[in-house]
Amino acid sequence: MCPACRVGLEAALWCRETKTNETGMNAPTKPEEFAPKIPDGVFAETVLSVEHYTDHLFRFRMTRPAGYRFRSGEFAMIGLMVGDKPIYRAYSIASPSWDEELEFFSIKVPDGPLTSHLQKIKPGDTVLMRKKPTGTLVLDALTPGKRLYMFSTGTGIAPFASLIRDPETYEKFEEVILTHTCREVAELKYGFDLVEEIKNHEFLSEIVGDKLKLYSTVTREDYPFQGRITDLIDNGKLFADLGVPGLDPAVDRGMICGSAAMLKDTKERLERAGLTEGANNKPSEFVIERAFVG
Ligand SMILES: Cc1cc2nc3c(=O)[nH]c(=O)nc-3n(C[C@H](O)[C@H](O)[C@H](O)COP(=O)(O)OP(=O)(O)OC[C@H]3O[C@@H](n4cnc5c(N)ncnc54)[C@H](O)[C@@H]3O)c2cc1C
Ligand SMILES: NC(=O)c1ccc[n+]([C@@H]2O[C@H](COP(=O)([O-])OP(=O)(O)OC[C@H]3O[C@@H](n4cnc5c(N)ncnc54)[C@H](OP(=O)(O)O)[C@@H]3O)[C@@H](O)[C@H]2O)c1
Repeated sequence: MCPACRVGLEAALWCRETKTNETGMNAPTKPEEFAPKIPDGVFAETVLSVEHYTDHLFRFRMTRPAGYRFRSGEFAMIGLMVGDKPIYRAYSIASPSWDEELEFFSIKVPDGPLTSHLQKIKPGDTVLMRKKPTGTLVLDALTPGKRLYMFSTGTGIAPFASLIRDPETYEKFEEVILTHTCREVAELKYGFDLVEEIKNHEFLSEIVGDKLKLYSTVTREDYPFQGRITDLIDNGKLFADLGVPGLDPAVDRGMICGSAAMLKDTKERLERAGLTEGANNKPSEFVIERAFVG
């Protein structure tokens, strides 16, 4: 585990030289303020737009470096200069691999070493990005199937924001079900916006058609769809609401992104249904990735 970036071994190997300053000093974000201090070997990209959803959530888009390649669903290390040191954190790239800009969906952690600064970015500011993306929530890590479930909680929707906008997802699967569970209704809005954007998109709307279903639930407010995804799997409400049969390893594939507890509990349900976990070097029936290190 990289102590600076809180990512696993694979990512830590390429970010280990980054020693971060977590003192919470004001971050200069204007290019002219810190252009001379940008570390070697990282991209310095320009923020294009920022949208705040709640006191705890926002999305932003920034320029994509020329020649930067990633697979939809992967994460990158993004950062800011804080004082004279860069602070990086793992972030799922929320835009699809074909997009000419990069999108991220972010938490605002009060006093968080990165996000207490990141939440203040504005168009024209600079965000750093390390060069190598990685991750397990990629289509290549799954064996062929008919129906793809993407189970997410909170900002765990971010990698799926990428995958649901990638035509390859719909070439590989007949049906795509994205579940998004948050504490409060306002936290669901990013997911709703994504579906609206797909519907209004010139070519995606045709490719996606009616193959994508978004199933959004909350756990701490009144809402027509309520409950943890694990409970909704257990009591069968998820399948009844969607009009699909229960999980079946012959046709269903899964991707999970949420807190460590959510990953553990959801993974148990998939394994109980007979699905086995895969990885980049060993494709199988489901894959998991942490949305944050808690
Ligand atoms: C593989 C991977 C992908 C990630 N992708 C994203 C992403 O797309 N969007 C995003 O906002 N974060 C993502 N994170 C979390 C991110 O790396 C940072 O932890 C987050 O930006 C907060 O940074 P910080 O320095 O402000 O606080 P940190 O010191 O990193 O975190 C402080 C505490 O805040 C809580 N926390 C951190 N991140 C989150 C979160 N996303 N949701 C809920 N609670 C959280 C945890 O309890 C954590 O211990 C990802 C983490 C990993 C490992
Ligand atoms: N989201 C916020 O409003 C908010 C605001 C400020 C700070 N924070 C802090 O940020 C951190 C993460 O908050 P978060 O809401 O983004 O993420 P979270 O605590 O992981 O909750 C997101 C959703 O996942 C559900 N969930 C939690 N554990 C689960 C499990 N084992 N199996 C299935 N579902 C599970 C939660 O249901 P339950 O409600 O049943 O737990 C909730 O609906 C916490 O430390 C929190 O204190 C969050």
